[in-house]
Amino acid sequence: MSRTSSILITGASGEIGHSLIERLAAGPQPVITLDLNALAPEHGKKVRKEFIGSILDNSLLERIHAEYEIDRVYHLAALLSTRSEFSPALAHKVNVEGTLNLLEFAQKAGESHGRPVVFFYPSSIAAYGLADAETKLAVGKVREDDHLHPTTMYGANKLYCEHLGRYYGRHYKQLSANSLGKIDFRCIRFPGLISAITAPSGGTSDFAPEMIHTAAKGEPYACFVRPDTRIPFMAMPDAVTAIQHLMDAPQAQLQRVVYNIGAFAPSAEEVRAVVMRAFPGATITWEIDAKRQGIVDSWPADVDDSAARHDWGHAPRYGFDAAFGEYLIPTIRNRYA
Ligand code: SER
Repeated sequence: MSRTSSILITGASGEIGHSLIERLAAGPQPVITLDLNALAPEHGKKVRKEFIGSILDNSLLERIHAEYEIDRVYHLAALLSTRSEFSPALAHKVNVEGTLNLLEFAQKAGESHGRPVVFFYPSSIAAYGLADAETKLAVGKVREDDHLHPTTMYGANKLYCEHLGRYYGRHYKQLSANSLGKIDFRCIRFPGLISAITAPSGGTSDFAPEMIHTAAKGEPYACFVRPDTRIPFMAMPDAVTAIQHLMDAPQAQLQRVVYNIGAFAPSAEEVRAVVMRAFPGATITWEIDAKRQGIVDSWPADVDDSAARHDWGHAPRYGFDAAFGEYLIPTIRNRYA
């Protein structure tokens, strides 16, 4: 039990969660986590309290509310895009109803502390839906308000939850109680993320991280998209830095609720080439999965992140060469050595 103001991370044992715990546990606020799965022991010992359970379990959320004074929520729990296509109704439940539960949780927490809870929501380039390959080529860097016609359940869930967050953050007002919204909702639309520490599962941008992790393990890999497929990517440390910058920015500086961020946008062939240079014995072939190809073909080739750069100083440390040469290849090499 702690009435010290604390941080709640949902989906804490996922890819972003791992790296975020590392950073936030080094700060002054205690970290509380919620995930279906237990944290790895090295992360478990860094957090104040680890709840194992579901974001759909309202009684568990009530217990967290009763026991901890949460004033920042990082709501990372979700089913990713490929996984969601296999079970769309379940994806909707977890991704949308789960987010609604966390927004209600944050609203209540804000009411009881008398100040807004800062709420971070990770959206995705999956919120976009470009009509076809020609449109994708023609539009280049996509701006936040354009081409928002997602083709996947996951993308539709993410886009809708951005709207839900905007509602709770800016428009929510209980007419009867006349109480104003108590959520300061902040959202980043992430590109594909590549971590050297964890291998992803269930995403459609996974072809790039999978190529590197399997090559480092000495296993063959069949890439499920065409060599010319291009989407934006970012190294995980830059993604976590961006979350911290956005969460720490004064509200008055934020002209948007939802921000694109980018770093580099290689084709699958360019990723293969850099991995082959690092692991010359690797076997990487192409075995196109039409459904997954269709999904990435509807995602932008790159994003316009000028608002994030302007409003809260987004400035990724790793471009394509540095992401691979200084972060991914050396760290992954060590990991599987
Ligand atoms: N990278 C995620 C996925 O592929 C999208 O946010 O599902």
